[in-house]
Formats: sequence, structure tokens, C-alpha cells
Amino acid sequence: MIKPDGVARGLVGEIISRFERKGLRLEKMRMLTIDEELARRHYAEHVEKPFFPELLEFITSGPVVAMQWAGESAISVCRTLMGATNPLQADPGTIRADFGLVVTHNLVHGSDGPESAERELGIFFG
Ligand code: RTP
Ligand code: MG
Repeated sequence: MIKPDGVARGLVGEIISRFERKGLRLEKMRMLTIDEELARRHYAEHVEKPFFPELLEFITSGPVVAMQWAGESAISVCRTLMGATNPLQADPGTIRADFGLVVTHNLVHGSDGPESAERELGIFFG
């Protein structure tokens, strides 16, 4: 998912292009604005974390682009292209390192395993 900062900064094409050039296949795509109820479902594992209020405000602040990508090891390949959660720790050449500066505004979200991928794709495309 391209988060509100990625959309607002005009980086949708750049980010999609990186996944495409890697060889992954774009199967579904939807632009929407996440409301509080959806944010709490999507980030259920983080609702009790101290950073959740900030994450909630950010993720509901504008439109996002939800996508389903397919291909060999798609989940780990996506997370490699995204880079570490905190852009300051992300390797150069990753999306978060190349375009991000602070942890909340880190441009992209990627499912962290097959179960979360299934659950999250169900939320956005089910
Ligand atoms: P994501 O779920 O968005 O793909 O990111 P991730 O797996 O790399 O990181 P995760 O631990 O799941 O955290 C979810 C999002 O919450 C924000 N965050 N803020 N202020 C903080 O300490 C903090 N920690 C995490 C980030 O936007 C992160 O992507
Ligand atoms: Mg996560």
C-alpha cells in the first residue's frame, strides 16, 4: 500500500514502477481514504502501541493506494524493496531510504507474511 505521504508527494508512479521493474505482477489496485474503523482493523496488532495515535492520524490523513502484487517470494521481495521501517535505518536504494525521513511517514506498507497478506487483502479487496 502506498501511504498518504506517497500519494500526496506524487510518488505513486515511482513506487509502482519499482515493483514492476523488479518483475512482480500488479493484480489489483484501489485508491481509497482509510477511516478510523478501517485503520483499527488493518493495524489491529498496533492498536495498543504508544505510536498508534500518530499512526492513526497519519494513515487517515489522505488517500492511499492499496495493491495486490504477485510473483516469486512476493512478500519478502516487496519488503526488501520497501526497506526498514525507519527510513533512517533503511538501506540506500530502498523506497523508504530514498524518499523517507521519519518513521511515521515511511511511504509504503507491506504485509509481513502470508496470513497478514490474506487478512489485509480481504480488508481492501474482499
Ligand atoms: P508497515 O506495517 O506499515 O508495512 O510497516 P512495518 O511492518 O515495517 O512496521 P510496523 O512495525 O508494522 O509498524 C507499522 C507502522 O507504524 C509506524 N510506526 N511508527 N513512531 C514509531 O515508533 C513507529 N513505529 C512504527 C510506521 O509508519 C510503520 O510503518
Ligand atoms: Mg507491519
